[in-house]
Amino acid sequence: MTPSSPAGSLPNSPELTFSTPITIAILGGTGRVGSGLATKLASQGHRLLLGTLNPDDAAANWSGPAVTFTDTAAAARDGQIVINATPGDTSLERLSALRSELSGKILVDVTNATQRNATSPLGDLCYPGSSLAEKLQAALPHTRVVKTLNTMMFKVMTNPQGLSSPPTAFLSGNDAGAKTTVRALLAELGWQNEQLMDLGDVTTARGTEELFLFVPYLVKTLGFVPFAVTVAH
Ligand SMILES: NC(=O)c1ccc[n+]([C@@H]2O[C@H](COP(=O)([O-])OP(=O)(O)OC[C@H]3O[C@@H](n4cnc5c(N)ncnc54)[C@H](OP(=O)(O)O)[C@@H]3O)[C@@H](O)[C@H]2O)c1
Repeated sequence: MTPSSPAGSLPNSPELTFSTPITIAILGGTGRVGSGLATKLASQGHRLLLGTLNPDDAAANWSGPAVTFTDTAAAARDGQIVINATPGDTSLERLSALRSELSGKILVDVTNATQRNATSPLGDLCYPGSSLAEKLQAALPHTRVVKTLNTMMFKVMTNPQGLSSPPTAFLSGNDAGAKTTVRALLAELGWQNEQLMDLGDVTTARGTEELFLFVPYLVKTLGFVPFAVTVAH
């Protein structure tokens, strides 16, 4: 296992491999996305730090495998990889405040950033013409942001073989090494390499984030069932 880099520095390579357990922080760890990812990754033997506003309450309500609940800053500081599973409309403000804790880390951003309004049931994009991933990368220049898993319902993230056709997990990010590490993380969640599609640099996240506009119509048509975007080619 390669330890996390010191704050402020970015290793070139080699990247983390998962031949031994690593410490994974999840911000928004008590939510549907965060708790699902935590349960799967903890069951794979990794150490999970779940960042939450109320660690004691969260621990009292947890019935999954052994994890550690802590405050968001401590989770960001101590995780070797940090997953952002907080509400997307406030993620930029929240994570910008963690700039020093996130320095040198890989940030896996699985969020969608929309704001509810009277005419749109799940909300319009917070960053039309851009993306939350780009905003996070700009705000956190010493952090390597990788966008992934935001094009599916949360249940698919940890059970990608459970759909009638294989879903696709897209990756967007500027750092090739970070994307290699995130591929390894996705493998821990059950994703096959052929299901992963590297779209390119972080600006490509605007494509996957914009797919969120599709979701209310899918849910209206399909009901609240697991679904994901898949690319046939
Ligand atoms: N649900 C899905 O199927 C799905 C699929 C793809 C992507 N996403 C994205 O994943 C993210 C999480 O979705 P979710 O469904 O898991 O949401 P959720 O169930 O509402 O959980 C989000 C968690 O973030 C924390 N949180 C909420 N408001 C906060 C605030 N104002 N400040 C700090 N922390 C706050 C809460 O944990 P604490 O109070 O314990 O801190 C909460 O448990 C969203 O960005 C969403 O767009 C969701």
